Amino acid sequence: SRPTLIALSGSIRSQSFSTAILHTLAEKLADRIDIRVLTLENVPLYNQDLDTDEAPAGVAELRQAIKDADGVIIASPEYNHGISGVLKNALDWASRPMGKAALAGKTAFTLSSSPGGVGGARAHAQLNETLAAIGVRQVLHPQAVIPAVHEKIAEGRLTDQRILNFLVDGVDALLKDIEKPGSADTQED
Ligand code: FNR
Repeated sequence: SRPTLIALSGSIRSQSFSTAILHTLAEKLADRIDIRVLTLENVPLYNQDLDTDEAPAGVAELRQAIKDADGVIIASPEYNHGISGVLKNALDWASRPMGKAALAGKTAFTLSSSPGGVGGARAHAQLNETLAAIGVRQVLHPQAVIPAVHEKIAEGRLTDQRILNFLVDGVDALLKDIEKPGSADTQED
């Protein structure tokens, strides 16, 4: 069956570069992979008092979307040398309940981007650290940091084909890890 991936964007602004990159990747791979891009505006601030069997609707949606997916793609901007609060908040929700977390045991391919020169590399490193805490396996190679991202987006899509191909390599490494190969030349079995 076709692999299904959930792609989480760490930015909820309408013109987000992070979200644009995920939509571009989803379209590029649409012939062989189902990639659902999810933005996180419906996820409330984490509150352990609300983290019951009746979790808030936005949280239930997030957790179910992750459970339903074979793997995860995460795109983060860099805010003050870290991942966005929006993303950290969602990862905290998805890391619970302990022992039954939607994210635990999943594999993630991570990317960061920034208009700046280092492409959100500091946020990227922090994201990897957080995923390790949750028990998410990670695609260690390649990991994508995309600098000067504002010059590489037009009309809501990533225009830099070299970077797009690099991201496709990352998704293929993710599929390999979850043993759901989606490329034509690996579908023989
Ligand atoms: C930023 N930005 C930023 N960029 C960076 O490279 N390093 C940083 O530490 C920060 N810090 C930062 C803090 C805050 C509060 C904001 C709002 C922005 C710039 C950031 O990379 C830029 O706004 C991106 O376009 C945000 O990502 P999206 O929304 O395009 O996905």
